[in-house]
Amino acid sequence: MLARMAQWYPWIVLLHLSCAIVFVGAVAFEVLVLEGLHAQFDAATMARIEQAVMRRARRFMPFVVALLFLSGFALFDIRCGGLQCIGTPFSYWLLLKVALAFGVLGVFVSAIVAGARGRMNPCRFRTTHRIILAMMIGIVFIAKMMFSL
Ligand code: HEM
Repeated sequence: MLARMAQWYPWIVLLHLSCAIVFVGAVAFEVLVLEGLHAQFDAATMARIEQAVMRRARRFMPFVVALLFLSGFALFDIRCGGLQCIGTPFSYWLLLKVALAFGVLGVFVSAIVAGARGRMNPCRFRTTHRIILAMMIGIVFIAKMMFSL
């Protein structure tokens, strides 16, 4: 199974990277662009814009995040030979990356649930996205450096 999956490795990395670009890109847009609009629109208009963005994101982002994690598990399994690599410096960085990823997933799911229940307010929206973006920057840094650290 692992050997057969290994030949698909480059495609799985491509899928993983594409999902990461969409997920990280959406959060970066919300923090770097949407937040900056508060100075130009009144609070009620901004709340409507943010709710519309969350509604739109709820349509496709759970699918993207699910694919990101599933492809991540496959990459982990192949790269680590199941759990054989555990104990190497590479494995500690990879495990830190996975722990951060589950942190992002936890915050993301709680934001989606709060939004669906109408309990998302501009302050919570801002704080949630800043926390997620900071964790994602850590994930991407580790992803690119873990082979040489
Ligand atoms: C928020 C979630 C995640 C983000 C944003 C993310 C992002 C990334 C990025 C940008 C890369 C580099 C891809 C490249 O070099 O082309 C990567 C690689 C990797 N990711 Fe993730 N990832 C996430 C979750 C996960 C999870 C949950 C796992 C495992 C359970 C995982 C396992 C891996 C592995 C093993 C690699 C190395 C692939 C390689 O270059 O050989 N990732 N990730």
